[in-house]
Amino acid sequence: EKGGFPHFMLKEIFEQPQAIQNTLLGRISLETFEIDLLQKEIDWLKEIVKIYVVACGTSYHAGLVGKFFLERFTQIPVEVELASEFRYREPLLHERCLFLGISQSGETADTLASLRLAKEKGAKVISICNVLGSSIARESEIVLYTQAGPEISVASTKAFTTQVLMLLLLALYIQKIKKGLNQYPELIEKLLHLPVILQEFLDKSYPRVKEISKKWYQAKDFLYLGRNILYPIALEGALKLKEIAYIHAEGYAAGEMKHGPIALIEESFPTIILAAKETGLVYEKTLSNAEEIKTRRGPLIGITTQGSEEVKRLCEDYLEVPQVPYEFLPIFYVVPLQLIAYEMAVLRGCDVDRPRNLAKSVTVE
Ligand code: M6R
Repeated sequence: EKGGFPHFMLKEIFEQPQAIQNTLLGRISLETFEIDLLQKEIDWLKEIVKIYVVACGTSYHAGLVGKFFLERFTQIPVEVELASEFRYREPLLHERCLFLGISQSGETADTLASLRLAKEKGAKVISICNVLGSSIARESEIVLYTQAGPEISVASTKAFTTQVLMLLLLALYIQKIKKGLNQYPELIEKLLHLPVILQEFLDKSYPRVKEISKKWYQAKDFLYLGRNILYPIALEGALKLKEIAYIHAEGYAAGEMKHGPIALIEESFPTIILAAKETGLVYEKTLSNAEEIKTRRGPLIGITTQGSEEVKRLCEDYLEVPQVPYEFLPIFYVVPLQLIAYEMAVLRGCDVDRPRNLAKSVTVE
């Protein structure tokens, strides 16, 4: 049942190229590179003035990535919120708002309650779910299914990367509907090659992840730093390490270091820094954040794209990600972080697929 893998988590990490392939299937025209998500055009999509993305845990992190896509391609302001917060405040909802719920299981109590609230207030509802016919799917006007296949491991991996992909597809789709013209055929064409590049990357990076994990797994704390579209990935990397390896980890926006966390830095506190030239201006900024950590003798582990040489010089260890379009960075950067959490958990003797105190779907508050 685990297909030769020792744990479901590892199996599911390695299933990601296929999960992405399946999620893309039938949604991109191979002739025109047009995205088709809904079969028929929905008029109200053109009228949306505000998007609320609401989710929990890893799905919330996918939502944070989605904000970058949705705002960039649709020019509609986006707010991303934790469902447990959203449902208990008084969000300003009306009929020109889109509520976008994200849930792997489709059963998360807070996300479901938020969706009901949004509907009650007249907002339009779309959900991104992985489980067919789940409660959230059934109660949504429109469901966009990620085709990740069953996710057994408590730690969400392939659901996350397919959610990120679906958010990109949705952003590009709304762009086309609003403008009546697909402005990004080249990017969409590149999406078709993503599974193959990701597969190569997985195979190539796993041995390197093992080395890095062996060297660092005894650390008591980790800091994960990123900026821009890699900031949510820092949050996700830290969450994976906490839940699977029981190591205290914090994800932080690198630019916030000076506002507090830098006080923690010392020789025994490693930082995993996510840096990519493709993020433009903030790449240089991330570099100076890394330098400040090095000056305070904090060990640095870098995840960088090929060609981001400056970061490597500062890091004790680094792992290289292939050069991919900006929009694909979150998918490529999260994979080594999933693998690091997995490897460290195994080295620490943790029950990877059934971490203590956690349930796969949180159906009660
Ligand atoms: O099924 P959902 O996507 O609604 O679940 C949300 C979270 O409970 C879930 O992502 C959780 O954070 C995972 N254990 C993370 O790996």
